[in-house]
Amino acid sequence: MILAFTGKGGTGKTLLAALTVLELLDRHPDADLLVVDADPDANMPDVLGVEVDTTLGEIREHFKREIEGGGLPPGFDKQAYMEYLVMNALQEFDDYDLLVMGRSEGKGCYCAVNHWLRRVMMDLLPNYDYVIVDCEAGLEHISRGIIEGVDTVLTVVDHSYKALRTAVRISKLIDELESDVGEMWVVANRVTEDEYAVIREKGEELGLKFAGFVRPDDEVVRLELHGIPLTELPPDAKVRRDMRAVLTRAGVL
Ligand SMILES: Nc1ncnc2c1ncn2[C@@H]1O[C@H](COP(=O)(O)OP(=O)(O)O)[C@@H](O)[C@H]1O
Ligand SMILES: [Mg+2]
Repeated sequence: MILAFTGKGGTGKTLLAALTVLELLDRHPDADLLVVDADPDANMPDVLGVEVDTTLGEIREHFKREIEGGGLPPGFDKQAYMEYLVMNALQEFDDYDLLVMGRSEGKGCYCAVNHWLRRVMMDLLPNYDYVIVDCEAGLEHISRGIIEGVDTVLTVVDHSYKALRTAVRISKLIDELESDVGEMWVVANRVTEDEYAVIREKGEELGLKFAGFVRPDDEVVRLELHGIPLTELPPDAKVRRDMRAVLTRAGVL
């Protein structure tokens, strides 16, 4: 199952994606999990409390330089080489693997690089029971087909109308994609029950489908204030309970 988190910046994509990792690990301790941080401003490693050495962005630069500079010997298997590079960026931890896409600094066309990256990703993803993708708002990696076959998109909104508008745009983008995306659910984050009622009504008028809401949680603020990873949130934390209900409604748990 491939799950992607999208939505306007700052709405809580990374937090909710990280909470999903925790719930899946609790529910399926033996499952193989891949977490993909696909936001160029990657902060999933901090939220999970782990460090990564390399990003795929750095590797893409490297690969681009090598193929453009004629650095690869003639007849060299590009797919095998890309696979080797991706495997280098893939970090294995006890409970999950983590792949940070990072940013590509350079200008110019990445079509050739993306072509190989796409093929390697397509080979890699079936090795996992769950793939959780923390996207940037633009859905770049999904729209470029680097991550295909997404089963569930969870689009996060906050109390603002702007976030709802972004959700509508994402929903349209998904409809226009060539690759199939299963279902898109909207989650309202950092809102009270009363606020959720208003957001939901407006969102449903715009054609959005809601999986529930997550309340503001001071415990999240406290941990972040002290630089403690959110993996330390106990199972009965408000955000974790709320997210469990959301994931159940969306058919993930
Ligand atoms: N329900 C919540 N309660 C408390 N803090 C939250 C909640 N949701 C998000 N936050 C905090 O708000 C900030 C932005 O969330 P984040 O997940 O980084 O957003 P995004 O990934 O969409 O940019 C983070 O500091 C996050 O911990
Ligand atoms: Mg984020």
